[in-house]
Amino acid sequence: MPSTDSPAAPDPALARALTAPGLVCIGLGATIGAGIFVLTGTAAAHYAGPALVLSFVIGGLVSGLVGLCYAELAAMIPQAGSTYAYTRVSLGLLPAWLIGWDLVLEFALAAATVAVGWSGYARSLMADVGLHLPPALCAGPGEGGVVDLPAVGIVLVLTALLTRGVREASWINGALVALKVAIILAFVGLGAAFVSPALWQPFVPPNTGEFGHFGTSGVLRGAAVVFFAYIGFETVSTAAGECRDPQADAPTGLIGSLLLSTLLYVAVAAVLTGLVAYRDLDVPDPIAKAVDVIGYPGLSLFVKLGALLGLTTSTLTALYGQGRIFYAMARDRLLPGAFARVDRRTRVPAASQWMIGLCTAAVAGLVPIDVLGELVSIGTLLAFGLVCASVPILRRRRPDLPRPFRVPAADVVAGLGLAACAVLMASLPPETWIRLALWLGLGLAIYAGYGRARARANP
Ligand code: ALA
Repeated sequence: MPSTDSPAAPDPALARALTAPGLVCIGLGATIGAGIFVLTGTAAAHYAGPALVLSFVIGGLVSGLVGLCYAELAAMIPQAGSTYAYTRVSLGLLPAWLIGWDLVLEFALAAATVAVGWSGYARSLMADVGLHLPPALCAGPGEGGVVDLPAVGIVLVLTALLTRGVREASWINGALVALKVAIILAFVGLGAAFVSPALWQPFVPPNTGEFGHFGTSGVLRGAAVVFFAYIGFETVSTAAGECRDPQADAPTGLIGSLLLSTLLYVAVAAVLTGLVAYRDLDVPDPIAKAVDVIGYPGLSLFVKLGALLGLTTSTLTALYGQGRIFYAMARDRLLPGAFARVDRRTRVPAASQWMIGLCTAAVAGLVPIDVLGELVSIGTLLAFGLVCASVPILRRRRPDLPRPFRVPAADVVAGLGLAACAVLMASLPPETWIRLALWLGLGLAIYAGYGRARARANP
């Protein structure tokens, strides 16, 4: 198997064109999206109130523990495939297949979910300039329409961009990230002058008597909800096979993008709850609502544009990550060889990227996504937990491998990370667990019928 023979060797086939700033942009591109532009309102209005700030700090701390573990593994195993590649080395073929299958939830399904959010903001912006699509082309069959055409369109356009080459996609991602961060900073900078400190009182509203509705438990529930906002920083680790200097750049990209997004989230949460009473934030576009308080003409349009850019880069990088995970799995012969075929000119797995793009576009256009959204969170938390577990396991099983970045107090950090992921998973509803079990069961069946025999037949 390529990944176990020489886990510390970077991948020779993919173009090694990415640098640390490009990786930070991939992390920021993947991370800042629907979580901050949509979920902040729900979390403040229903669970945490102004203490949403604390929910974001908790989410950032949990992600920080996981991020340190990712940094050690990404620098040590600088290959495409992220968690799949680490589990392949630490736990073996079957767990690796299962986690690769699970990662479809974290990447392709997340791309479809965010693309539907993109469609909502795009239609709102079009309506602002007097353009309206027929309702049948704005939602899938489960939601009274025929197909969500803007969601299909954005997935296909971004797939086309990804097949042009990683350097091109990274450049455009970087430009979009710079714009969206500038728009968020403008919101924070302008909004700070209009904040009413009285709206931050009481900072932690008293619990209503129901677990998770304000009070300390509400802050924790809020952290579980806004955890979605942190999903994505680990996309950096899927790109480790394409870095110029993965041992140095991957940890910088992971920790850098996580730190920056945490700072932005905390600042946005503070300004948002200081501009609008938290009970009034239960709207699909909370930041746009807060902008109305600031009152500058045109700022609302500007913020919607920022949201659209955020959702664009989040979809783009999720599609990218999925391509690299399937690439790694196909190289281990767990998937058909077409997923590992690298285009000679662009040096990206273009055919695979199109297959992923077409399937994701179909899901985004036709399937009601709201139910599936929580699957993204539980699938990601499972992957995060396994990454934490892989660090101490590999320290014992493969002490020989060079570790350019080492997690300090590894057993403590990895143990706390694993426990935090388990607690957040436990806070998700039983239906989500059942869907996860069904998805993993389907994965096991495919492995038994296809992957195991092929992987064994082609050592
Ligand atoms: N963190 C990503 C977002 O909020 C998934 O859109």
